Amino acid sequence: MPTKTEKDAITGRETTGHEWDGIRELDTPLPRWWVYIFYATIAFAAVYCVLYPAIPLLRSHSEGMLGYTNRAALVQSTEQAAAQQAGFISRIRAASLEEIRKDPELLAFAETGGRAAFAENCVPCHRAGGAGAKGYPNLADDDWLWGGTLGAIHQTITHGVRNADPDSRQSQMPRFGADNLLNRQQISDVADYVLSLSHQPAPADAVERGSAIFAENCALCHGEKGTGNQEVGAKNLTNGIWIYGGDKATIVETITNARNGSMPSWGARLDPTTIKMLAVYVHSLGGGQ
Ligand code: HEC
Ligand code: HEC
Repeated sequence: MPTKTEKDAITGRETTGHEWDGIRELDTPLPRWWVYIFYATIAFAAVYCVLYPAIPLLRSHSEGMLGYTNRAALVQSTEQAAAQQAGFISRIRAASLEEIRKDPELLAFAETGGRAAFAENCVPCHRAGGAGAKGYPNLADDDWLWGGTLGAIHQTITHGVRNADPDSRQSQMPRFGADNLLNRQQISDVADYVLSLSHQPAPADAVERGSAIFAENCALCHGEKGTGNQEVGAKNLTNGIWIYGGDKATIVETITNARNGSMPSWGARLDPTTIKMLAVYVHSLGGGQ
């Protein structure tokens, strides 16, 4: 039981009068700074409770003099953002691809929108950033099957390649082996010639025989020098960039069975504004012309 307070000999302070087994408790006051902060927090809490919703009532809560709620703030900022976006989107809808390209603000908005739509629809095949994979062309380089202008990219995305869309890009590389257009030896020779086009080593006599076979069977689409033809989506075979692969076995397989990759048509699935933004985004990846 507290009995009597007394002065502590060492510190000169009063004790509280509590004592346990001979140990007595000093009555040291709280530090002033601590006490002031403590009062300040009480004052803050009181002011907060008046201004903001804070006190639970039976059915709801006190509204606070400012009438602020997080939900209202969120709704307001979402509405603001949506209004700003709607402005951009209607401008993109009205603008031509060239006009978008020339307006830095629209361009930045379209690239961002295109990146999001690309991640959602195109990445499964073309990979992140359009880097491509075997069978799916890289969209970030300046090697184009069907053309790298904004208009050509827009056309390819809208109608796709070798699909049921009547306006899709069409062409058909023949199956030279499977349909017996060339025999094994001829295919091996022309494959060696294709190797030589991209400066890979190949036996000179085979390259020479292959060159004649190429002129007769392949130049029509791939061009006399093998540099490709965007009218028919025929790959440039000279630049060392490959969709399916540039080693001999892969080239032989390509010539034997042909590939004729197909890309879906997006015109019916995505709205025109999204397709414009996709074209602008793909064009901006690095290879746009
Ligand atoms: C199912 C797989 C697949 C999906 C999904 C896909 N693509 Fe493709 N894409 C291809 C293939 C395969 C080709 C090559 C077609 C060919 O051989 O000519 C291609 C070609 C292209 C080309 C032409 C490249 C060139 O060199 O001319 C563009 C541009 C393109 N895709 C954009 C897109 C965009 C944008 C999307 C998303 C909206 C998309 N693709 C979704 C498979 C796909
Ligand atoms: C009717 C046009 C046409 C003819 C003829 C043709 N090609 Fe092609 N070739 C194409 C097209 C289109 C592609 C792209 C195929 C795709 O995207 O799947 C292609 C792709 C290729 C590829 C794949 C390149 C890569 O990046 O992996 C090789 C190799 C090739 N052709 C070699 C030949 C050779 C050799 C011949 C002649 C024996 C030949 N082509 C004849 C249209 C043709």
